[in-house]
Amino acid sequence: MKPLKQHTIWGLRGSFILAATGSAVGLGNIWKFPYITGENGGGAFVLMYLLWIAVIGIPIMMAEILMGRRARANPIMATAELCETSGASKGWTVIGWMGALAGLVILSFYTVIAGWTLEYVQSALSGKFAGLTGETSQALFDGLLADNSKMLQWHTIFTLMTVTILALGVTRGLEASVRWMMPLLFVLLLILLGYAMVEGEFVTSLRFMFSFNIEDVSWESALTAMGHSFFTLSLGMGAIMAYGAYMPSTQSVGKTVMLVALLDTLVALVAGVAIFALVFATPGIAVGSGPGLMFVTLPVAFGNMSAGLVIGSVFFVMVMLAAWTSTISLLEPGVAYLNERFGLSRIGASVLLGVIAWLLGLGSVWSFNDWSDKQFLWGKSYFDSMDFIATNIMLPLGGMLIALFVGWKLRDEHLLHELKFESSLLLKVWRPILRYISPVAVLVILINGIFPVLRKVFVE
Ligand code: PHE
Repeated sequence: MKPLKQHTIWGLRGSFILAATGSAVGLGNIWKFPYITGENGGGAFVLMYLLWIAVIGIPIMMAEILMGRRARANPIMATAELCETSGASKGWTVIGWMGALAGLVILSFYTVIAGWTLEYVQSALSGKFAGLTGETSQALFDGLLADNSKMLQWHTIFTLMTVTILALGVTRGLEASVRWMMPLLFVLLLILLGYAMVEGEFVTSLRFMFSFNIEDVSWESALTAMGHSFFTLSLGMGAIMAYGAYMPSTQSVGKTVMLVALLDTLVALVAGVAIFALVFATPGIAVGSGPGLMFVTLPVAFGNMSAGLVIGSVFFVMVMLAAWTSTISLLEPGVAYLNERFGLSRIGASVLLGVIAWLLGLGSVWSFNDWSDKQFLWGKSYFDSMDFIATNIMLPLGGMLIALFVGWKLRDEHLLHELKFESSLLLKVWRPILRYISPVAVLVILINGIFPVLRKVFVE
Protein backbone atom coordinates (compact mmCIF):
# COMPACT_ATOMS: atom_id res chain seq x y z
CA MET A 1 0.00 0.00 0.00
CA LYS A 2 1.20 3.52 -0.79
CA PRO A 3 2.12 5.59 2.26
CA LEU A 4 -0.35 8.31 3.11
CA LYS A 5 0.37 11.66 1.51
CA GLN A 6 1.48 14.60 3.55
CA HIS A 7 -1.90 16.24 3.99
CA THR A 8 -3.54 18.70 6.35
CA ILE A 9 -5.56 17.07 9.10
CA TRP A 10 -7.68 19.21 11.39
CA GLY A 11 -6.14 18.96 14.81
CA LEU A 12 -8.83 20.37 17.00
CA ARG A 13 -11.51 18.06 18.28
CA GLY A 14 -14.84 18.79 16.70
CA SER A 15 -13.54 20.75 13.71
CA PHE A 16 -14.76 18.17 11.24
CA ILE A 17 -18.17 18.09 12.90
CA LEU A 18 -18.42 21.90 12.83
CA ALA A 19 -17.30 22.10 9.21
CA ALA A 20 -19.58 19.32 7.98
CA THR A 21 -22.51 20.76 9.96
CA GLY A 22 -21.65 24.16 8.51
CA SER A 23 -21.81 22.74 5.03
CA ALA A 24 -25.07 20.93 5.70
CA VAL A 25 -26.87 23.75 7.52
CA GLY A 26 -27.67 26.44 4.99
CA LEU A 27 -30.39 28.00 2.91
CA GLY A 28 -31.71 24.46 2.52
CA ASN A 29 -32.60 24.31 6.22
CA ILE A 30 -33.79 27.82 6.95
CA TRP A 31 -35.20 29.03 3.64
CA LYS A 32 -36.25 25.89 1.78
CA PHE A 33 -37.29 23.39 4.47
CA PRO A 34 -39.95 25.57 6.14
CA TYR A 35 -41.59 26.57 2.89
CA ILE A 36 -41.66 23.09 1.37
CA THR A 37 -43.05 21.80 4.67
CA GLY A 38 -45.72 24.49 4.46
CA GLU A 39 -46.55 23.56 0.89
CA ASN A 40 -46.68 19.84 1.62
CA GLY A 41 -48.99 19.82 4.59
CA GLY A 42 -46.67 19.84 7.61
CA GLY A 43 -46.29 16.76 9.84
CA ALA A 44 -46.48 13.99 7.26
CA PHE A 45 -43.84 15.71 5.19
CA VAL A 46 -41.54 16.13 8.19
CA LEU A 47 -41.85 12.44 8.99
CA MET A 48 -40.98 11.36 5.44
CA TYR A 49 -38.02 13.71 5.41
CA LEU A 50 -36.70 12.14 8.62
CA LEU A 51 -37.09 8.72 7.08
CA TRP A 52 -35.03 9.63 4.01
CA ILE A 53 -32.31 11.18 6.13
CA ALA A 54 -32.01 7.80 7.85
CA VAL A 55 -32.12 5.55 4.80
CA ILE A 56 -30.19 7.50 2.22
CA GLY A 57 -28.63 10.53 3.89
CA ILE A 58 -26.71 8.83 6.68
CA PRO A 59 -25.35 5.86 4.66
CA ILE A 60 -24.20 8.05 1.75
CA MET A 61 -22.60 10.60 4.05
CA MET A 62 -20.61 7.79 5.67
CA ALA A 63 -19.55 6.62 2.22
CA GLU A 64 -18.34 10.09 1.22
CA ILE A 65 -16.36 10.62 4.40
CA LEU A 66 -14.62 7.33 4.18
CA MET A 67 -13.67 7.90 0.54
CA GLY A 68 -12.08 11.24 1.37
CA ARG A 69 -10.37 10.00 4.51
CA ARG A 70 -9.10 6.81 2.91
CA ALA A 71 -7.42 8.66 0.06
CA ARG A 72 -6.54 11.87 1.96
CA ALA A 73 -7.01 13.93 -1.19
CA ASN A 74 -9.53 16.16 -2.95
CA PRO A 75 -12.54 14.30 -4.44
CA ILE A 76 -11.13 14.15 -7.97
CA MET A 77 -7.80 12.64 -6.97
CA ALA A 78 -9.44 10.60 -4.21
CA THR A 79 -11.75 8.79 -6.62
CA ALA A 80 -8.87 8.23 -9.05
CA GLU A 81 -6.72 6.74 -6.33
CA LEU A 82 -9.49 4.55 -4.94
CA CYS A 83 -10.21 3.22 -8.44
CA GLU A 84 -6.59 2.24 -8.72
CA THR A 85 -6.27 0.57 -5.32
CA SER A 86 -9.52 -1.33 -5.71
CA GLY A 87 -9.03 -2.28 -9.35
CA ALA A 88 -12.19 -0.47 -10.45
CA SER A 89 -12.57 1.20 -13.84
CA LYS A 90 -11.22 4.73 -14.20
CA GLY A 91 -14.71 5.74 -15.30
CA TRP A 92 -15.71 6.12 -11.65
CA THR A 93 -13.59 9.29 -11.44
CA VAL A 94 -16.61 11.01 -12.95
CA ILE A 95 -17.78 11.18 -9.29
CA GLY A 96 -15.03 13.71 -8.53
CA TRP A 97 -15.31 15.69 -11.73
CA MET A 98 -19.04 16.01 -11.76
CA GLY A 99 -18.97 16.91 -8.07
CA ALA A 100 -16.52 19.77 -8.53
CA LEU A 101 -18.57 21.06 -11.45
CA ALA A 102 -21.83 20.76 -9.48
CA GLY A 103 -20.18 22.77 -6.70
CA LEU A 104 -19.42 25.61 -9.11
CA VAL A 105 -22.93 25.57 -10.55
CA ILE A 106 -24.64 25.51 -7.14
CA LEU A 107 -22.34 28.23 -5.84
CA SER A 108 -23.19 30.44 -8.82
CA PHE A 109 -26.86 30.72 -7.88
CA TYR A 110 -26.56 30.10 -4.13
CA THR A 111 -24.60 33.34 -3.68
CA VAL A 112 -27.43 35.24 -5.38
CA ILE A 113 -29.97 34.14 -2.74
CA ALA A 114 -27.41 34.35 0.04
CA GLY A 115 -26.83 37.93 -1.14
CA TRP A 116 -30.48 38.73 -0.44
CA THR A 117 -29.85 37.91 3.22
CA LEU A 118 -27.21 40.69 3.30
CA GLU A 119 -29.73 43.16 1.89
CA TYR A 120 -32.26 41.98 4.48
CA VAL A 121 -29.82 42.40 7.36
CA GLN A 122 -29.42 45.99 6.21
CA SER A 123 -33.18 46.49 5.80
CA ALA A 124 -33.87 45.09 9.25
CA LEU A 125 -31.21 47.26 10.88
CA SER A 126 -32.41 50.40 9.14
CA GLY A 127 -35.98 49.82 10.30
CA LYS A 128 -37.51 49.10 6.91
CA PHE A 129 -39.59 46.22 8.32
CA ALA A 130 -41.57 48.50 10.66
CA GLY A 131 -45.29 48.22 10.03
CA LEU A 132 -44.94 46.14 6.85
CA THR A 133 -48.07 44.57 5.42
CA GLY A 134 -48.23 41.62 3.02
CA GLU A 135 -48.35 44.04 0.11
CA THR A 136 -45.63 46.45 1.15
CA SER A 137 -43.38 43.52 2.01
CA GLN A 138 -43.92 42.00 -1.42
CA ALA A 139 -43.13 45.39 -2.94
CA LEU A 140 -39.90 45.60 -0.96
CA PHE A 141 -38.82 42.16 -2.21
CA ASP A 142 -39.87 42.88 -5.81
CA GLY A 143 -37.93 46.13 -5.63
CA LEU A 144 -34.77 44.22 -4.73
CA LEU A 145 -35.25 41.68 -7.52
CA ALA A 146 -35.76 44.43 -10.09
CA ASP A 147 -32.66 46.32 -8.99
CA ASN A 148 -29.98 44.82 -11.19
CA SER A 149 -27.00 46.65 -9.74
CA LYS A 150 -27.96 45.94 -6.15
CA MET A 151 -28.42 42.24 -6.92
CA LEU A 152 -25.03 42.23 -8.63
CA GLN A 153 -23.42 43.99 -5.71
CA TRP A 154 -24.63 41.40 -3.18
CA HIS A 155 -23.77 38.48 -5.48
CA THR A 156 -20.24 39.89 -5.80
CA ILE A 157 -19.86 40.49 -2.08
CA PHE A 158 -21.02 37.00 -1.16
CA THR A 159 -18.67 35.44 -3.72
CA LEU A 160 -15.80 37.51 -2.30
CA MET A 161 -16.66 36.42 1.24
CA THR A 162 -16.50 32.80 0.10
CA VAL A 163 -13.23 33.23 -1.80
CA THR A 164 -11.60 34.96 1.17
CA ILE A 165 -12.17 32.05 3.55
CA LEU A 166 -10.95 29.51 0.98
CA ALA A 167 -7.89 31.57 0.12
CA LEU A 168 -6.88 31.63 3.80
CA GLY A 169 -6.46 27.86 3.65
CA VAL A 170 -7.69 24.66 5.24
CA THR A 171 -6.61 25.55 8.76
CA ARG A 172 -6.60 29.34 8.90
CA GLY A 173 -9.60 29.70 6.61
CA LEU A 174 -12.02 26.78 6.80
CA GLU A 175 -11.26 25.43 10.24
CA ALA A 176 -10.82 28.81 11.92
CA SER A 177 -14.03 30.24 10.46
CA VAL A 178 -16.36 27.38 11.32
CA ARG A 179 -15.05 27.41 14.87
CA TRP A 180 -16.63 30.78 15.58
CA MET A 181 -19.40 30.93 12.97
CA MET A 182 -21.13 27.71 13.95
CA PRO A 183 -21.39 28.39 17.70
CA LEU A 184 -22.63 31.91 16.90
CA LEU A 185 -25.22 30.48 14.52
CA PHE A 186 -26.51 28.16 17.26
CA VAL A 187 -26.72 31.02 19.77
CA LEU A 188 -28.69 33.15 17.29
CA LEU A 189 -31.00 30.22 16.57
CA LEU A 190 -31.68 29.81 20.30
CA ILE A 191 -32.47 33.53 20.61
CA LEU A 192 -34.90 33.18 17.73
CA LEU A 193 -36.48 30.10 19.30
CA GLY A 194 -36.89 31.85 22.65
CA TYR A 195 -38.47 34.84 20.97
CA ALA A 196 -40.85 32.65 18.97
CA MET A 197 -41.89 30.83 22.15
CA VAL A 198 -42.77 34.10 23.85
CA GLU A 199 -44.13 36.14 20.97
CA GLY A 200 -45.34 33.51 18.51
CA GLU A 201 -48.10 30.91 18.31
CA PHE A 202 -45.74 28.19 19.46
CA VAL A 203 -48.24 25.44 20.14
CA THR A 204 -50.08 25.93 16.85
CA SER A 205 -46.75 25.76 15.10
CA LEU A 206 -45.74 22.52 16.85
CA ARG A 207 -49.10 21.03 16.01
CA PHE A 208 -48.65 22.01 12.37
CA MET A 209 -45.17 20.53 12.13
CA PHE A 210 -45.70 17.33 14.07
CA SER A 211 -49.28 16.18 13.66
CA PHE A 212 -49.43 13.40 11.17
CA ASN A 213 -52.31 13.28 8.71
CA ILE A 214 -52.15 10.34 6.40
CA GLU A 215 -54.22 12.16 3.78
CA ASP A 216 -51.41 14.69 3.38
CA VAL A 217 -49.05 12.02 2.09
CA SER A 218 -48.72 12.02 -1.65
CA TRP A 219 -46.25 10.33 -3.93
CA GLU A 220 -44.95 13.68 -4.96
CA SER A 221 -44.38 15.00 -1.47
CA ALA A 222 -42.49 11.79 -0.64
CA LEU A 223 -40.21 12.53 -3.56
CA THR A 224 -39.74 16.16 -2.62
CA ALA A 225 -38.79 15.05 0.88
CA MET A 226 -36.28 12.56 -0.54
CA GLY A 227 -34.63 15.10 -2.83
CA HIS A 228 -34.38 17.58 -0.01
CA SER A 229 -32.69 15.11 2.35
CA PHE A 230 -29.91 14.98 -0.21
CA PHE A 231 -29.48 18.71 -0.71
CA THR A 232 -29.69 19.53 2.96
CA LEU A 233 -26.88 17.13 3.91
CA SER A 234 -24.66 18.46 1.06
CA LEU A 235 -24.40 15.00 -0.47
CA GLY A 236 -23.47 13.84 -3.94
CA MET A 237 -20.93 16.47 -4.95
CA GLY A 238 -17.87 15.80 -2.84
CA ALA A 239 -18.15 18.62 -0.28
CA ILE A 240 -18.30 16.13 2.56
CA MET A 241 -15.66 13.98 0.83
CA ALA A 242 -13.30 16.94 0.65
CA TYR A 243 -13.81 17.63 4.36
CA GLY A 244 -13.42 13.89 5.07
CA ALA A 245 -9.83 14.19 3.82
CA TYR A 246 -9.11 16.50 6.78
CA MET A 247 -10.76 14.29 9.40
CA PRO A 248 -8.47 12.56 11.91
CA SER A 249 -8.27 8.77 11.45
CA THR A 250 -9.16 8.17 15.06
CA GLN A 251 -12.64 9.71 14.78
CA SER A 252 -15.61 7.35 14.35
CA VAL A 253 -17.29 7.92 10.99
CA GLY A 254 -20.63 6.48 12.08
CA LYS A 255 -20.97 8.53 15.27
CA THR A 256 -19.83 11.69 13.52
CA VAL A 257 -22.35 11.29 10.72
CA MET A 258 -25.18 10.65 13.18
CA LEU A 259 -24.28 13.84 15.01
CA VAL A 260 -24.03 15.96 11.84
CA ALA A 261 -27.33 14.59 10.53
CA LEU A 262 -28.94 15.21 13.93
CA LEU A 263 -27.68 18.80 14.13
CA ASP A 264 -28.72 19.53 10.55
CA THR A 265 -32.19 18.14 11.22
CA LEU A 266 -32.50 19.98 14.52
CA VAL A 267 -31.65 23.30 12.88
CA ALA A 268 -34.26 22.70 10.17
CA LEU A 269 -36.91 21.73 12.74
CA VAL A 270 -36.15 24.56 15.16
CA ALA A 271 -36.03 27.12 12.35
CA GLY A 272 -39.29 25.69 10.98
CA VAL A 273 -41.09 25.74 14.34
CA ALA A 274 -39.88 29.28 15.08
CA ILE A 275 -40.78 30.62 11.64
CA PHE A 276 -44.27 29.09 11.67
CA ALA A 277 -44.88 30.29 15.23
CA LEU A 278 -44.20 33.86 14.05
CA VAL A 279 -46.20 33.44 10.86
CA PHE A 280 -49.24 31.99 12.71
CA ALA A 281 -49.10 34.95 15.09
CA THR A 282 -49.41 37.44 12.24
CA PRO A 283 -52.95 37.71 10.95
CA GLY A 284 -53.55 37.57 7.23
CA ILE A 285 -50.44 35.74 6.08
CA ALA A 286 -50.40 32.15 4.84
CA VAL A 287 -48.10 29.30 5.87
CA GLY A 288 -48.06 27.78 2.42
CA SER A 289 -46.72 30.89 0.77
CA GLY A 290 -43.82 29.19 -1.02
CA PRO A 291 -40.30 30.55 -1.58
CA GLY A 292 -41.39 34.02 -0.41
CA LEU A 293 -41.98 32.69 3.12
CA MET A 294 -38.62 33.94 4.37
CA PHE A 295 -38.24 37.14 2.35
CA VAL A 296 -41.84 38.32 2.14
CA THR A 297 -43.90 36.72 4.90
CA LEU A 298 -41.43 36.70 7.76
CA PRO A 299 -40.52 40.42 7.53
CA VAL A 300 -44.23 41.19 7.99
CA ALA A 301 -44.15 39.18 11.21
CA PHE A 302 -40.97 40.95 12.38
CA GLY A 303 -42.31 44.37 11.43
CA ASN A 304 -45.36 44.00 13.63
CA MET A 305 -43.96 42.51 16.83
CA SER A 306 -42.21 43.96 19.81
CA ALA A 307 -38.42 43.98 19.34
CA GLY A 308 -39.12 42.59 15.89
CA LEU A 309 -36.53 44.76 14.20
CA VAL A 310 -33.71 43.52 16.43
CA ILE A 311 -34.84 39.92 16.11
CA GLY A 312 -35.27 40.39 12.36
CA SER A 313 -31.63 41.45 12.14
CA VAL A 314 -30.56 38.51 14.30
CA PHE A 315 -32.51 36.20 12.03
CA PHE A 316 -30.99 37.38 8.77
CA VAL A 317 -27.45 37.43 10.22
CA MET A 318 -28.04 33.82 11.21
CA VAL A 319 -29.15 32.86 7.69
CA MET A 320 -26.16 34.68 6.26
CA LEU A 321 -23.77 32.68 8.47
CA ALA A 322 -25.50 29.43 7.59
CA ALA A 323 -25.19 30.20 3.88
CA TRP A 324 -21.55 31.27 4.21
CA THR A 325 -20.40 28.03 5.85
CA SER A 326 -22.17 26.20 2.99
CA THR A 327 -20.70 28.22 0.13
CA ILE A 328 -17.15 27.56 1.30
CA SER A 329 -17.81 23.82 1.13
CA LEU A 330 -19.16 24.16 -2.42
CA LEU A 331 -15.85 25.51 -3.69
CA GLU A 332 -13.46 23.46 -1.53
CA PRO A 333 -13.36 20.34 -3.79
CA GLY A 334 -12.26 22.40 -6.81
CA VAL A 335 -9.83 24.59 -4.86
CA ALA A 336 -8.21 21.57 -3.20
CA TYR A 337 -7.89 19.88 -6.60
CA LEU A 338 -6.12 22.81 -8.29
CA ASN A 339 -3.89 23.17 -5.25
CA GLU A 340 -2.97 19.49 -4.85
CA ARG A 341 -2.78 18.59 -8.53
CA PHE A 342 -1.09 21.62 -10.07
CA GLY A 343 0.48 23.24 -7.04
CA LEU A 344 -1.56 26.40 -7.60
CA SER A 345 -1.66 28.49 -4.42
CA ARG A 346 -4.90 28.44 -2.41
CA ILE A 347 -5.30 32.13 -3.17
CA GLY A 348 -4.89 31.64 -6.93
CA ALA A 349 -7.18 28.59 -6.99
CA SER A 350 -9.96 30.25 -4.99
CA VAL A 351 -9.85 33.46 -7.01
CA LEU A 352 -9.90 31.54 -10.30
CA LEU A 353 -12.85 29.35 -9.35
CA GLY A 354 -14.60 32.26 -7.62
CA VAL A 355 -14.43 34.25 -10.86
CA ILE A 356 -15.88 31.32 -12.84
CA ALA A 357 -18.75 30.86 -10.38
CA TRP A 358 -19.35 34.61 -10.29
CA LEU A 359 -19.57 34.74 -14.10
CA LEU A 360 -21.90 31.74 -14.18
CA GLY A 361 -24.03 33.50 -11.58
CA LEU A 362 -24.52 36.66 -13.64
CA GLY A 363 -27.30 34.90 -15.56
CA SER A 364 -28.99 34.10 -12.25
CA VAL A 365 -28.84 37.76 -11.21
CA TRP A 366 -30.33 38.82 -14.53
CA SER A 367 -32.96 36.08 -14.55
CA PHE A 368 -34.81 38.11 -11.89
CA ASN A 369 -34.81 41.29 -14.00
CA ASP A 370 -33.25 41.82 -17.47
CA TRP A 371 -33.57 38.17 -18.47
CA SER A 372 -36.86 37.53 -16.71
CA ASP A 373 -38.56 36.44 -19.90
CA LYS A 374 -35.62 34.55 -21.37
CA GLN A 375 -36.02 30.80 -21.26
CA PHE A 376 -33.22 28.29 -21.07
CA LEU A 377 -33.96 24.65 -20.29
CA TRP A 378 -37.47 23.79 -21.38
CA GLY A 379 -39.17 26.98 -20.40
CA LYS A 380 -37.20 27.49 -17.21
CA SER A 381 -35.45 30.73 -16.31
CA TYR A 382 -31.65 30.71 -16.16
CA PHE A 383 -31.75 30.54 -12.36
CA ASP A 384 -34.22 27.64 -12.34
CA SER A 385 -32.24 25.84 -15.06
CA MET A 386 -29.04 25.98 -13.03
CA ASP A 387 -30.84 24.82 -9.89
CA PHE A 388 -32.51 22.03 -11.84
CA ILE A 389 -29.33 20.72 -13.46
CA ALA A 390 -27.34 20.75 -10.24
CA THR A 391 -29.91 19.82 -7.61
CA ASN A 392 -32.19 17.48 -9.52
CA ILE A 393 -29.65 15.83 -11.81
CA MET A 394 -26.03 16.16 -10.71
CA LEU A 395 -26.45 15.67 -6.96
CA PRO A 396 -28.65 12.57 -7.15
CA LEU A 397 -26.50 11.08 -9.90
CA GLY A 398 -23.33 11.75 -7.92
CA GLY A 399 -24.92 10.29 -4.78
CA MET A 400 -26.03 7.18 -6.60
CA LEU A 401 -22.56 6.64 -8.06
CA ILE A 402 -20.96 7.13 -4.64
CA ALA A 403 -23.35 4.55 -3.11
CA LEU A 404 -22.61 2.06 -5.89
CA PHE A 405 -18.86 2.67 -5.83
CA VAL A 406 -18.45 2.29 -2.08
CA GLY A 407 -21.10 -0.42 -1.85
CA TRP A 408 -19.74 -2.66 -4.62
CA LYS A 409 -16.26 -1.62 -5.64
CA LEU A 410 -14.21 -0.67 -2.60
CA ARG A 411 -12.26 -3.50 -1.03
CA ASP A 412 -13.52 -4.88 2.27
CA GLU A 413 -10.19 -4.38 3.99
CA HIS A 414 -10.17 -0.68 3.06
CA LEU A 415 -13.65 -0.20 4.39
CA LEU A 416 -12.93 -2.11 7.55
CA HIS A 417 -9.79 -0.12 8.13
CA GLU A 418 -11.73 3.16 7.97
CA LEU A 419 -14.66 1.80 9.92
CA LYS A 420 -12.79 0.09 12.70
CA PHE A 421 -14.55 2.09 15.36
CA GLU A 422 -18.06 1.23 14.25
CA SER A 423 -20.35 -1.30 15.89
CA SER A 424 -20.79 -4.57 14.04
CA LEU A 425 -24.53 -3.96 13.81
CA LEU A 426 -23.97 -0.69 11.94
CA LEU A 427 -21.56 -2.40 9.56
CA LYS A 428 -24.06 -5.19 8.90
CA VAL A 429 -26.88 -2.86 7.91
CA TRP A 430 -24.84 -0.11 6.27
CA ARG A 431 -23.40 -1.96 3.28
CA PRO A 432 -26.64 -3.60 2.09
CA ILE A 433 -28.39 -0.22 2.37
CA LEU A 434 -25.64 1.34 0.29
CA ARG A 435 -25.70 -1.45 -2.28
CA TYR A 436 -29.41 -1.79 -2.79
CA ILE A 437 -31.65 0.71 -1.04
CA SER A 438 -29.83 4.02 -1.58
CA PRO A 439 -29.19 3.58 -5.34
CA VAL A 440 -32.74 2.51 -6.02
CA ALA A 441 -34.20 5.34 -3.96
CA VAL A 442 -31.97 7.86 -5.70
CA LEU A 443 -32.84 6.47 -9.11
CA VAL A 444 -36.46 7.14 -8.26
CA ILE A 445 -35.66 10.79 -7.43
CA LEU A 446 -33.73 11.16 -10.63
CA ILE A 447 -36.47 9.76 -12.79
CA ASN A 448 -39.00 11.89 -10.99
CA GLY A 449 -36.84 14.94 -11.52
CA ILE A 450 -36.30 14.37 -15.21
CA PHE A 451 -39.54 12.75 -16.25
CA PRO A 452 -41.87 15.76 -15.93
CA VAL A 453 -39.41 17.77 -18.02
CA LEU A 454 -39.14 15.12 -20.72
CA ARG A 455 -42.89 14.83 -20.83
CA LYS A 456 -43.12 18.56 -21.32
CA VAL A 457 -40.66 18.39 -24.20
CA PHE A 458 -42.09 15.38 -26.01
CA VAL A 459 -45.78 15.31 -25.17
CA GLU A 460 -46.78 18.95 -25.02
N1 PHE B 1 -26.57 21.75 2.40
C1 PHE B 1 -26.64 23.09 1.94
C2 PHE B 1 -27.96 23.70 2.38
O1 PHE B 1 -28.78 23.04 2.95
C3 PHE B 1 -26.50 23.21 0.45
C4 PHE B 1 -25.34 22.48 -0.12
C5 PHE B 1 -25.54 21.49 -1.06
C6 PHE B 1 -24.04 22.77 0.29
C7 PHE B 1 -24.49 20.77 -1.57
C8 PHE B 1 -22.98 22.06 -0.20
C9 PHE B 1 -23.18 21.07 -1.14
O2 PHE B 1 -28.21 24.85 2.14
